[in-house]
Amino acid sequence: MADNEGNIAAKDYGIGVPQKQEGFFLKGNENASYGIKSRLSQVFNQKSGHTVMLAFDHGFIMGPTSGLERIDLTINPLIQYSDCIMCTRGILRSVVPPTCNKPISYRFDSGTTILTSLNDETLHDVEEAIRLNVSLMAVMVAIGDPDHEGSTIRNLTKTVDYGMRYGIPTLGVTAVGKNLTRDARYLGLATRVCAENGANVIKTYYCDEGFEKVTNGCPVPIVIAGGKKLPEKDALALARNAIDQGAAGVDMGRNIFQSDSPVGMLLAVREIVHNGATVDQAFDCYETYKNTGTCNCCCCGK
Ligand code: 5RP
Repeated sequence: MADNEGNIAAKDYGIGVPQKQEGFFLKGNENASYGIKSRLSQVFNQKSGHTVMLAFDHGFIMGPTSGLERIDLTINPLIQYSDCIMCTRGILRSVVPPTCNKPISYRFDSGTTILTSLNDETLHDVEEAIRLNVSLMAVMVAIGDPDHEGSTIRNLTKTVDYGMRYGIPTLGVTAVGKNLTRDARYLGLATRVCAENGANVIKTYYCDEGFEKVTNGCPVPIVIAGGKKLPEKDALALARNAIDQGAAGVDMGRNIFQSDSPVGMLLAVREIVHNGATVDQAFDCYETYKNTGTCNCCCCGK
């Protein structure tokens, strides 16, 4: 306890040694607040500068998606292998154990479903994000959607304002929609608009042509969604290509939890995102885990 008596005189002031100043490891966030940087450091691995986020928020627009019927049985065992989880507050409160100790990317908006128009979204209370101790507030932005572009950009703007007030970073999620083309021109415009409006990280899709232009034209980190289920090797190639072309990680769902070995797939994706594995090396990790329940990858730890 602090005391008035018997104190040793302070003398180690390091005179002549300048105080260490750390640069921040994530692009475009150098000038963010302490709280935002601290939370981003929970989501992104400081050594690789990358993240493997596990997305299972699909139910908020799709209902009980294949692989997510019983999140307690299929997703909870995977959480330990992810760097961050992305889900809704309903699933957090009802199924995800608060003891899982993973940073949360909280689906901060809700609205219409696949049965109607998609992307007609409203925001939650920021107090809810604080109560849930989240590390990112994720909000959908429907650039190019004639009905919902304006309202979803206003949602993003409001989320960034909340985030600035309370030190919580914003994840801008470029929307899904029937008429939105996933090419470099569209994705480049959509991600840049999110960044210009203050998002700290952007989630978007990979595209085969010109993805480098998308990442280079976006001043903050981009993570990619996996999209619909692909053969495992193709999904790993998608992750490899995205990282090689400047993505800072993945926020992947169906290609993990709809795989015949979700843990194997998650470990394989980690090998790519954090450890520079080739597609063949990562695929070998996935297959080995699938067949033996263990593998030699750096992340497996078994
Ligand atoms: C839904 C989402 C999902 O989190 C996102 O699409 C990631 O999942 P998947 O890899 O299955 O595409 O944002 O709106």
